[in-house]
Amino acid sequence: MRDGTGAGSGAEEPAPLLELSGVRAAYGPIEVLHGVDLRVGPGKVVALLGPNGGGKSTTMKVCAGLLPVTGGELRFAGRRVNGVSAEDAARLGVCSIPEGRGIFPNLTVRENLWVATGTGARLRDVEEAAYSRFPILAERRDQLAGSLSGGQQQMLALSRALGTNPAVLLLDELSMGLAPMIVTQMYDTVAQLVAEGLSVLVAEQFARAVLPIADTAALMLNGRVVSAGAPAEIEDQLSSSYLGG
Ligand SMILES: Nc1ncnc2c1ncn2[C@@H]1O[C@H](COP(=O)(O)OP(=O)(O)OP(=O)(O)O)[C@@H](O)[C@H]1O
Ligand SMILES: [Mg+2]
Repeated sequence: MRDGTGAGSGAEEPAPLLELSGVRAAYGPIEVLHGVDLRVGPGKVVALLGPNGGGKSTTMKVCAGLLPVTGGELRFAGRRVNGVSAEDAARLGVCSIPEGRGIFPNLTVRENLWVATGTGARLRDVEEAAYSRFPILAERRDQLAGSLSGGQQQMLALSRALGTNPAVLLLDELSMGLAPMIVTQMYDTVAQLVAEGLSVLVAEQFARAVLPIADTAALMLNGRVVSAGAPAEIEDQLSSSYLGG
């Protein structure tokens, strides 16, 4: 899955696994992405930052095949995939954890993991991987997901996503509603996964949580990526552009 050879300009930079060029998208007649440029290289973490309503979640939806591209180009491993369905995006190795985690509150931990096996993984393998990464989930395996703590729910969402063996993970507001210590723990886990070869696009309204593990940060305002670069650079712009210092 990781042999994207794209424009192959030698040793310096591998082709991005996920690439958006001038991507536009709309909800009905209202365009909200006005030409988004973004690239996620293999084994890299890209943090998508910016204020409310900037278009972060919409960008994630486009990448996951949940919202159609109305202009520009979406590419996976160098291949144009405009119009890709959510199923095909998943098959191509793009997996998303949506805002609010997307787990089923009325199913048990185990049943939620079972959902991941729709893509062909075996339940036993998915469970084993989940429980060894997050032992607390083993203790709670027969408990309804809705009764887990926020952090445990996020662990479950992450485990379920990993059950599909993704190449690119899309994380939307991983930190939402979680205590700072849990956020740090979750991002430590993400960093570990990246060390094992995963690529990650993370949308966060609160930059501090994700910047320590990001290779690149992109600042999104009003449906466009207005700048992208080293996390420290973007952090400076962030504070001057909307966090008020
Ligand atoms: N389902 C929808 N139908 C219509 N408009 C929507 C829908 N979802 C989002 N929008 C609009 O699209 C724009 C971008 O929203 P989006 O959710 O992508 O922003 P965001 O950067 O994720 O914001 P937040 O930080 O609050 O999560 C906003 O103006 C929003 O009102
Ligand atoms: Mg959002």
